Amino acid sequence: MKNISDLNIRGKKLLIRVDFNVPLDGQGNITEDTRIRGVLPTINHALDEQAKIIIISHLGRPDGKPNEKFSLAPVAKRLSRLIAKDVQMAPDCIGDEVKTMVEQMQEGDVLLLENLRFHKEEQENDPEFSRKLGELADIYINDAFAVAHRAHASVVGVTNFFDQCAAGFLLQKEMDYFHRSVSDPMRPLVAVIGGAKVSSKLGALRNLIDRVDKMIIGGAMANTFLKSMGHDVGLSKVEDDLLDTAKELVDKAFRQGVKLYLPVDCIVGDTFSARAETKRTTTQEVPAGWMILDIGPATTMLFSAALENAKTIIWNGPMGAFEMDAFSRGTMAMVQHVASSHALTIVGGGDTDVAVHRAGASNYISYISTGGGAFLMLMEGKKLPGIEALENKAN
Ligand code: 3PG
Repeated sequence: MKNISDLNIRGKKLLIRVDFNVPLDGQGNITEDTRIRGVLPTINHALDEQAKIIIISHLGRPDGKPNEKFSLAPVAKRLSRLIAKDVQMAPDCIGDEVKTMVEQMQEGDVLLLENLRFHKEEQENDPEFSRKLGELADIYINDAFAVAHRAHASVVGVTNFFDQCAAGFLLQKEMDYFHRSVSDPMRPLVAVIGGAKVSSKLGALRNLIDRVDKMIIGGAMANTFLKSMGHDVGLSKVEDDLLDTAKELVDKAFRQGVKLYLPVDCIVGDTFSARAETKRTTTQEVPAGWMILDIGPATTMLFSAALENAKTIIWNGPMGAFEMDAFSRGTMAMVQHVASSHALTIVGGGDTDVAVHRAGASNYISYISTGGGAFLMLMEGKKLPGIEALENKAN
């Protein structure tokens, strides 16, 4: 895969695919701009090279038709502030008006095209739509790691309409860190997997069990494992159809010498609510009518001890219902342990980075991925279509 710095981009028209799918409040204000800041190295490099910078992105899921609520206009303003330069906003991402705006660009100009998903052809990977995007520029740069798992027109099909394609610095960095953490890690490698459902992480669990030295499982998904081992978990969320699968994973870990850590105590609530009555109990003695909503202090100590000699830690998914204060301690303690570790630490997946940011620990993590679904797909050991498309071009 080529990198933007391998190409001569001086004065050229660049089509840069980014992922500006950022959270907005009801008034169109951006509430979190990590994904915008993440692509600044690529944009600043292109500015240094006096390129004509045409940026494309999706925002939300507008169902293939224009919808003001999903306009990228607020992003143009924020980007303009971050690069201290005017960013023009196009009313669409294809068509004559856009072509005219591109033709009028001077070297060093930045133009943000309107949401790609205002056209259903984007998500259909439609060749004609890809061609229309392709005719806008000389070189295609993909710096949208967070959408690299989608075989969409601006991610995959578009590469057929450029002679020169390359990764931006963010995409490259994401892939490098992932490689260092899972494909070629310093050992012991410890995976910390949490979150609500075994089903959504099954592929990742299966792939990681063959690669890691230790696996720590927390969050509601641990309940299914505990029940598969015969614990009565009361009203806790459990995926009963996956009890056998959970058992197989536990057996496999044992056979392969992977040390598997599950909660030994927990904080239970009488309802799934911030005002729930709570108590601490062992996982063997969850009272009937109560549900596990966080790991307990003994588990926190156990998990922390398991992390102590780690050289690489990869973490995806919270340890409990951390959005409610009463059930946030386990996840916040995990943030502290991962952040204070001397290991290479990689955190990925929506909720996990929220927890890290909330704890104010982002500067103490080696790398926080900007991807949710894309990061998970890598953890499943699969190739991302967006990466494959770039690799095919390089051959
Ligand atoms: C994300 O936020 O994970 C990416 O922007 C992809 O968005 P999508 O799940 O709507 O394709």
